[in-house]
Amino acid sequence: MMWATLLAGLVLLSAIPSGFPRSVYDVSGRQKRSIDLNDVYYSKMPQYRLPNEVTPTNYYLDIEIPSIESDRFNGRVKINLTWSDTSDRIILNVHQNLEISMVNIRMIQLAPEEAEKGVPMGVNIARTERQKQKSWYIIHLEQMLKNGSACEVDITYYGNITTNETTGLYKSGYMDSGGREHLFIATYLQLDNAQKMLPCMDDPPYKTTFKLKVLYPKGLKALTNTPSISRRELTEKSKIEEEFEETPRMSTNQLALIISDLEYIEPLKEVNKIDGWKLQVKVWGRKEFMERLVDVPDKVVTIINYLQNYFNSSFSLSKLDVMAIPMYSASKASDNWGLMFFKESELSSPLVWTTAYELLYQWIGQTITPYRRNDAPVNKALNSFLASMATIDLNPNEMEGKWPMTVLYSLYYEFAQTAPFSRVAGIRHEATWTKDSTYREIASLMFRNRRTFFANDIFTYLNDLANETDNLPPGLTVNGIAASWINRDRVPLVTVIRDYETRRINLSQKVYLRDIPPQSTAKVSYQWDIPIVIQFQNNLNFHNTKPIVWLRKENEPKNLTILDFTTKDNFIIVNPEEIGMFPVNYDSCNWKMLSQYLQGPDREKIPPLTRAKLLHDAWNLAYAGELCFGIAMNMTLFLKEEKSHVVWEPVFTMIHHIGRRIEGLDVYIQSLIKPLYLELGENPQPDEPSWKTHMRGLMKNFLCRAGYEPCVKEARDEFNKWLTDEEPDKGNPVANKFLCPVFKWGTNEEWEFGLQRVINFPKTSLARKQNERTYLLKTLAGCPKDANKIERLLQVAVLDQNENFTDADIQLIFSMLTGGATGYKTLFNFLQEHWYAVKERFQNKTYLWNGIINSATSSFNTQEGYDMVSQLYLDHQNEFESADAIIRKALRVIKQESIKWNEENVPVIDTWLKENLSKEDLETIAAATSTFILSTTIVPTTTD
Ligand SMILES: *[C@@H]1O[C@H](CO)[C@@H](O)[C@H](O)[C@H]1NC(C)=O
Ligand SMILES: *[C@@H]1O[C@H](CO)[C@@H](O)[C@H](O)[C@H]1NC(C)=O
Ligand SMILES: *[C@@H]1O[C@H](CO)[C@@H](O)[C@H](O)[C@H]1NC(C)=O
Ligand SMILES: *[C@@H]1O[C@H](CO)[C@@H](O)[C@H](O)[C@H]1NC(C)=O
Ligand SMILES: *[C@@H]1O[C@H](CO)[C@@H](O)[C@H](O)[C@H]1NC(C)=O
Repeated sequence: MMWATLLAGLVLLSAIPSGFPRSVYDVSGRQKRSIDLNDVYYSKMPQYRLPNEVTPTNYYLDIEIPSIESDRFNGRVKINLTWSDTSDRIILNVHQNLEISMVNIRMIQLAPEEAEKGVPMGVNIARTERQKQKSWYIIHLEQMLKNGSACEVDITYYGNITTNETTGLYKSGYMDSGGREHLFIATYLQLDNAQKMLPCMDDPPYKTTFKLKVLYPKGLKALTNTPSISRRELTEKSKIEEEFEETPRMSTNQLALIISDLEYIEPLKEVNKIDGWKLQVKVWGRKEFMERLVDVPDKVVTIINYLQNYFNSSFSLSKLDVMAIPMYSASKASDNWGLMFFKESELSSPLVWTTAYELLYQWIGQTITPYRRNDAPVNKALNSFLASMATIDLNPNEMEGKWPMTVLYSLYYEFAQTAPFSRVAGIRHEATWTKDSTYREIASLMFRNRRTFFANDIFTYLNDLANETDNLPPGLTVNGIAASWINRDRVPLVTVIRDYETRRINLSQKVYLRDIPPQSTAKVSYQWDIPIVIQFQNNLNFHNTKPIVWLRKENEPKNLTILDFTTKDNFIIVNPEEIGMFPVNYDSCNWKMLSQYLQGPDREKIPPLTRAKLLHDAWNLAYAGELCFGIAMNMTLFLKEEKSHVVWEPVFTMIHHIGRRIEGLDVYIQSLIKPLYLELGENPQPDEPSWKTHMRGLMKNFLCRAGYEPCVKEARDEFNKWLTDEEPDKGNPVANKFLCPVFKWGTNEEWEFGLQRVINFPKTSLARKQNERTYLLKTLAGCPKDANKIERLLQVAVLDQNENFTDADIQLIFSMLTGGATGYKTLFNFLQEHWYAVKERFQNKTYLWNGIINSATSSFNTQEGYDMVSQLYLDHQNEFESADAIIRKALRVIKQESIKWNEENVPVIDTWLKENLSKEDLETIAAATSTFILSTTIVPTTTD
């Protein structure tokens, strides 16, 4: 999260030095969907935090694989631990998959005070205890050890190699064209899966060194994070014993091992030597895939050189093995230190972005921050930002047409929430259900090391630039300015009010919140140092990024008044080109002038990025209650003429965020999109620029979901191939993008066919990946507009207790149903109707019980909805148990926020639409909905 703001700072600071890399101005990014449903699905319940009175300093790990057929492995780990507080126990994470056969402990260092007294060294184990639910293995000692003591624990154990999924130490395989199976063993230790392979303190902040020794069958090759230092053949056993160099300090989840018969190729280019490091790159894959990987080694080298050069610092690695793993099923590449695992299709693609993204993750993850990366979508957005920057410089065409701002905007969305990050359902639930403490703990761990990184790696660089260019006002330092940006998870809103009579501009700042905060939330009163760059209509020059003035955090009174350099018939634009990371609001006259200018012949004098910003700010401010919706809607009028993909891109992001609430909107957007879509042509032309293809895809997606006939037809035709397949469970011939339109607009039979594919999805098949099933399930739940499909799904998954639906599936269904009115209303009715059956079903599954109550009640936003939810509460007052607080909160939010919002804004929007839409469009809306309210649906993003 800090990292996020760090980049915000970076962007902001680009206002200062003229020597700043070009890429920071005109960066393009890659589409990040505003609501990344992977986060919802993969977020899990919090792990129990280990107390930190004892911390590890090194691990020596021996792993023995008896044979490639074996499903067991033997392990022995020695861990050196130091005491930072008095304690007589050691707690390790040990997954229940591991069986401990022996444990010993020896003291290697006395606490200084005891050493002085001449206390003899010695420590004994009193007993050990296994707490399976927490995955804790507790070693109770006979002695109480003091701060400064150190011990070595020696644990011998064995475990099962995972075969049904790819976590921990797992076995997988691939077929060659001759039909021969090749097995391999690999690790996936991300999140908290290291404890499946070794007893350890499995939390990213505990960074230690690892020394690995592996005994494995002859004929295979072992790779880990570091180079091999000795390799010995044990002839009588037909085994290889191989030892590897000690790793740098890193988190347990960065440890990696693969034992396989994959082959490698090396780059022709060389990695530049920096700080004495010269990196050796190899790219690995199965024999028959190598041809597809020929260009990859040089691509990796190019990206590494770029990043090392940009940060002027080396990766500090002596080797990097990049592997295309057959049948790799994790949702994202595994960015372990020195050894990265990719999906074959991802690695072989000529695109730069993904590779850069993962390289950055690895680098950042190892050297910089100890955060739990999956917790914070913001970190991803940030990483995307850097990856985009690299891509723009290395392969500009790849970025062409992929807006510059969506990455930044996704940060805005995150920061502008009442509780940042609460969008990630897992964390929201966690926060509600565990009273916040765990999350806060994670957060505090996240922050600890942050500043070190920033100061060392980036500030130096920025400071130098600032020093050279002499652009800072007196009294401000780069560090000082950046601190207010990087240490917060918020951004400011700058309000600009012009007094046209006296020709003055009044500037003020406040914390930007998009959702109305609950009254209980403490008011945050942050202030920032904000560079004010202004463009005046009569003197437009978007290359000038020099601040006219700084809105300082110390300003007292809080407002700053400056002279207006232009007259009342000219608009002004503050923060053009999104130089700083903050939205801007204006008085209504200025907005009106902007809107009119954008509809006029000179509109392209305002560059696309700024056009996009104006539109985006207006909509978001309206959504946040800062601006009248009428004005914001007027700002969309220019889209009729708009041809730039850069401006259109954020529109789709906005629809995701805002469309849910403003429900007539997508018919309106459709009316804006159709002309441009038709102009682009339905089918790609040879040699067209990639942005066109990209735009067409986005628009088509949108139109499809909105029921655009030609598209729905195409989707159903495609789907029909599957429907008529004789063995439909062998594979899915239908591209993901076609599923949602079919499940939304198609027949019950089509939908039911999809449901059967989820139910009959093969559990163990090398050819089919679990995420195919997940995607199907998401679309089955999230897309329909007919209640009966959803009722059927709930019947099967919840009431019939169909064993093919896991708890995680059910939770996923619930969260998908909150995406649209049909979904949550149907869920509500279902809950009401089957109250006792549901309650009994989830008797021992508190989180599913809480989940259904939350999803069924919290999304209502009308008085009628409020009445329904409160009636349910009255009817079953004493029966909610763990979910009592959840429904009470839902009622409070509906009453205080949602209804109020609707009452204030819906009539304004309705009126606006009635005035501005054509008769035809109004009829479309009327046909689609009996009232004026359309239901929109969140549509799953592709998981692949
Ligand atoms: C632990 O520390 C001792 C003494 O420094 C050393 O001999 C031993 O090799 C270390 N063990 C591990 C696992 O690092
Ligand atoms: C390993 O798998 C076997 C067979 O499935 C099972 O009986 C055993 O309990 C498992 N061992 C561990 C440590 O999980
Ligand atoms: C794999 O097996 C383990 C233990 O038998 C189980 O806990 C886990 O849920 C299984 N995973 C899948 C994806 O079925
Ligand atoms: C600017 O550079 C000069 C000379 O290198 C140095 O003495 C000074 O401390 C620098 N100022 C800042 C703000 O870094
Ligand atoms: C400061 O500006 C805000 C918003 O422009 C305005 O509401 C407020 O009255 C101003 N305060 C002062 C002291 O001028």
